[in-house]
Parts: sequence; structure tokens; C-alpha cells
Amino acid sequence: MLRARLRGEAADKVRAFTESVSYDRRLYRQDIAGSAAHAAMLARQGVLSGEEADLLRAGLKQIGEEIASGSFSWSEEQEDVHMNIERRLTEIVGETGKKLHTGRSRNDQVALDFRLFVSESLERWMVLARELAASLLAQAERYPDVLMPGFTHMQAAQPVSLAQHLLAYAWMLKRDVERMRDCAVRVRVSPLGAAALAGTTYPLAPEHVARELGFEGVFDNSMDAVSDRDFAAEAMFCASLCMTHLSRLSEDVILWANAAFSFVILPDAYSTSSSIMPQKKNPDVAELVRGKTGRVYGALLGLLTTLKGLPMTYNRDLQEDKEPFFLVDDTLSRSLEVMSGLIAALRFRPEQMRRALALGYVNATELADYMASRGVPFREAHALAGKAVALAEEKKLALEDLSLEDLRSICRLVEEDVYALLTPEAAVLRRQSPGGTGPESVRRQIEKLRLWLKP
Ligand code: ARG
Repeated sequence: MLRARLRGEAADKVRAFTESVSYDRRLYRQDIAGSAAHAAMLARQGVLSGEEADLLRAGLKQIGEEIASGSFSWSEEQEDVHMNIERRLTEIVGETGKKLHTGRSRNDQVALDFRLFVSESLERWMVLARELAASLLAQAERYPDVLMPGFTHMQAAQPVSLAQHLLAYAWMLKRDVERMRDCAVRVRVSPLGAAALAGTTYPLAPEHVARELGFEGVFDNSMDAVSDRDFAAEAMFCASLCMTHLSRLSEDVILWANAAFSFVILPDAYSTSSSIMPQKKNPDVAELVRGKTGRVYGALLGLLTTLKGLPMTYNRDLQEDKEPFFLVDDTLSRSLEVMSGLIAALRFRPEQMRRALALGYVNATELADYMASRGVPFREAHALAGKAVALAEEKKLALEDLSLEDLRSICRLVEEDVYALLTPEAAVLRRQSPGGTGPESVRRQIEKLRLWLKP
């Protein structure tokens, strides 16, 4: 195929090395849609007759059905998805099939197919990311009054509500979705009409192709249109960042499920056991999401590396764009799906969180704030509260178990009313600053996120 100016056949090894149909057949729906739009535009512009375009479109539709039903026979000899479909089209409709490629090159054709594919992937990711955000939101609403230690440096820091912790991830996902929506605007630009690299002598109307395919824009520069894959790299970055968020969420779930925390009971359906240790219930799903994040980053870096040294315009290197994208597409889609299910099925253990709150002096800031409210400059109050912690530690007591006498030995401005402020409830209740963990702020967040998730 396509060897008119070459002598003889390609060596088997070369054919196997250069073919892409084994994986780019995944673009068949996009290839057919793009070709159908191209045929209609050619007829509209008077390059083909209306009957020819109808014939081509009917043939393409039939091919779509053959591929979907599994009766289509793919051939490696035809190199890629484009040649496979074009060859079959000519079998079905005869000589007219050979007119489809008028004013077009595989260079703008593949760029269009890939943009259509990436655009659909982004749409699916957005739906799945919203579903996960909805799972997080539902859990936040299920446990409105549950408090837990919040951590910095992986050390207990201050009491927070479980809802605040879960909602933090919902906000990350909201930004992920917004980023994908933004990216989609740049993906949804049709390159068809750029031809091989320089444009074409046929009177094409690229905007008609774009419109039929539901794209908002058309290319401005033919050389740019056929040679850049920034749209794919950008989508893969959106996916990478979303995986970062899923990986962090996974890490929290893994920690929470650890016996030392016991904040959560993993659903059996999302756990595995060990082949040797009968007591084990492992958080493999979360671990795999965390682990797969690595190869998503790898795919993004791979594509960026492929692109960085390419001279203008199309180079066969660009064929290497699809597999990493497919890997990212599959990995992110499945990770989002499985995380939605996992989060929805988690059962939290408020009593264990309460137990953890009693450790680690998470109310030390409250004591410092109390002293500051009594006129001690905060930096000094901070130091005095630190002393109180040291004293409590020495006595093997919680801060709130120190006697008033003990507290007053550190700061004589402390009165009986301090104890009411040292409970986790008070700490959370009083954090009414915007976006803080206080119940009013959490309620507002839930409202905002609900509004965003409204269909
Ligand atoms: N399979 C090729 C790719 O994915 C299609 C474009 C081929 N164009 C070319 N001039 N060889 O990039």
C-alpha cells in the first residue's frame, strides 16, 4: 500500500515496526465521522457531486457497523486505521471511494481523529470526576458532626470535621473538571483542510467540517495544525493532575484503614487478603490507584519528550502520540470509577477518630488563642502553651486534664473558662473563618458543591 514510488515490498519486520492499526483502530468512530464530514463539505463546495458524497457517507456508515459488530477484517498491510477504512470503502462503493481523500492528507486526517478522540475522553473524565465528587459530598453529609484530628507533617495538628477533610478532595476534583473543560476548548479545533502541511488548491471550507463535528474552531496555520500535539499533552496533564488528587485520596484511605488509625472500615468488595497472612485486609484498590499514577505521569513525559525535538511539520514520531494517551485515558477512567465506588462504600468510625483526638495535644492552639484573647501577645502565648504541653506530657496527661493551678503556674491570666475551649467541639465550632472547618463554613461549601453538581 502507498508504495507506488518504491520498489518491492517492505520487509515484514519493517511493516510490523511501522504499523499502527493494531492500536489506532481505536480511532475508527472518529475517523469515520471525520471522513463523512469531509465528504459532505467536498460536495457542498462542488468538488464532489451530491450523489458521490451520499455514496461515500453510506459506505462509511456501513463500515462503522461492520467494525462495531466485529465483522470488519483489519489488515496490518494497510498500516493504519485510515488506510484500512479507505480500502474497505473502495471495496464497498467502488471507484468513488478513491475520491474521498481529495484535498486531504493523513496528516490532517489523523490530527482531526485524535482531537475528536481526546475531546470525547475529556467529556467522559469530567462526568466521572463529578461522580467521585458526588460520592465525597454524600459521605460529608452522612457524617456532619464527626470530628477527627487534622494533620500537618503527618502529626496531629488541630481538630477538624471529617466533612471538611472529605470536601477538600471535592474541591480538587472541581478544579480538575474546570481544567478539563478549559482544555477541551483548545482541543475542539478542527485541523482538516491543512492537508499535508501547506493547505490545498481545492476550495475547501474547513468551518463546515468543524460545525458538522461539533467543534468550535478551525486551524489558523496549516503547518501548526498537522504538527502539534499540544492538545493531547495538555489533556494528559489534566489527567495527571487529577491522578495526583486520586493518589493523595488513596493515601489517606490507606492510612485511615491502617489498624493504628482505624478511622475507616474498608468495604470487603474493595479489599483483598494475603496469600499467607489470614488476618490481612488490604487496601489494594487505593494502592493501585496510587501506583498507576506513576505511569500516567510517565505517559505525559513520554509524549512531551517525543514532541520536543520535532522539526516542522509532520514526522512519523507523531504516531507515538496515541498509545500513551490511550493508557492515560484507560487509567484515569478506571481509577475515577473505582474510587467513586470505594468512597461511597467506606464506613467511618467516629469513635476511633474521637480516640485519636484525645492524643497528640491537638488543642494546644486553643490554649494559645485563649491566652492571646486575654492580652498575651500571640507569639508569647504560643510559647506558654508549648510549656503547658511539655508539663502535661511530663505528667502523662491531656492538656485539658491539667489542673487550673498547673495552668496558672504557666500563665496567671488563665481562668476556669479555659476548659470549655479545650474540647474538639469548641475548637471546630469556633473556626468560623471563611473556608474554615466550622460547621457554617462546611454547610456553605456543601451548598456550593451541590449547586455545581446539579445536572
Ligand atoms: N498512522 C499515522 C500517525 O498516526 C497517520 C499519519 C501518517 N502520515 C504519514 N505521512 N505517514 O501519525
